[in-house]
Amino acid sequence: MKPEIIVVGKIFARTQEKLDQEFTCHKLYEAPERDAFLKQHAGKVRALATFGASGADAKLMDALPKLEIIANFGVGVDAIDVAAAKQRKILVTNTPDVLNECVSDTAMALVLNTLRRFPASETYLRSGYWAARGAFELTASLGGRSLGILGLGRIGESIARRALAFGMKIRYHNRNRKSVPYAYDADVVALARNSDVLLVATPGGAETNKIVNAKVLDALGPEGYLVNIARGSVIDEPVLLKYLKEKKIAGAGLDVFEGEPKINPDWFGLENAVLFPHVGSATVETRTAMGDLQVENLRLHFAGKPVKSPVT
Ligand code: 8YV
Repeated sequence: MKPEIIVVGKIFARTQEKLDQEFTCHKLYEAPERDAFLKQHAGKVRALATFGASGADAKLMDALPKLEIIANFGVGVDAIDVAAAKQRKILVTNTPDVLNECVSDTAMALVLNTLRRFPASETYLRSGYWAARGAFELTASLGGRSLGILGLGRIGESIARRALAFGMKIRYHNRNRKSVPYAYDADVVALARNSDVLLVATPGGAETNKIVNAKVLDALGPEGYLVNIARGSVIDEPVLLKYLKEKKIAGAGLDVFEGEPKINPDWFGLENAVLFPHVGSATVETRTAMGDLQVENLRLHFAGKPVKSPVT
């Protein structure tokens, strides 16, 4: 008998195939009647497979009294009520490390595109302006500029390695200072003041909610750039929109937004922002590795073994 699990939101197709091979999957996102669906499966379901957008709240956990494990596809577990899971002795797993390189590539693409304005330069060419108006405007170099990483975790460190190769100077802020050869700032405002580019790589959730606020953007200043590959919640978005419109900071590069994918339409018209639709980890290789780790955690759990990547 295969263990029964609920798949909360529509997951990467390859991962769903692997889940189907090992488990009996009930798809919550296809259920016409959520409550009836949960009642129907509550007696047997021992696991949830979920991801960033679908998460898992306490209400869902309470509807499933046999729930033992919530396996997330993704490193960020801000959409899962981890405290509620702990209280109910439900294990939570995520997919760290396998996405570090891809997400850091995306971070560097945002830094490059925001400072060098490559997307705007391509639009300029495609609009036929090159011959008609002359060369595209001059932009800002990466080399020699300081990159302030807010949240020097595994992804932050991998971004730092890349940025060093681009000739950038690295500094960071974390709750705890690390033994790394980078300058440390004691708080976010100091980091922003000392950085040309402030790069947000901290986890989302209540602790980091809107920690990039007006004070921080004032410290970053009109020559400063903001890049976010973490979660939209880390930034006070209405303030950022206002600061970009009023040119109180030089520009922003964003892969994540409040309320994504239905983002504030004010973003669409902003020329000093480079906007990606949350593609940080979005390659076939990385998404496959994330899915494999999610499935492995479930497999290990049902075999009575320690999971590979528990959220502690
Ligand atoms: C994914 C992410 O887009 O890992 C995360 O926390 O935000 C991204 O890698 C997402 O989790 C998959 O849906």
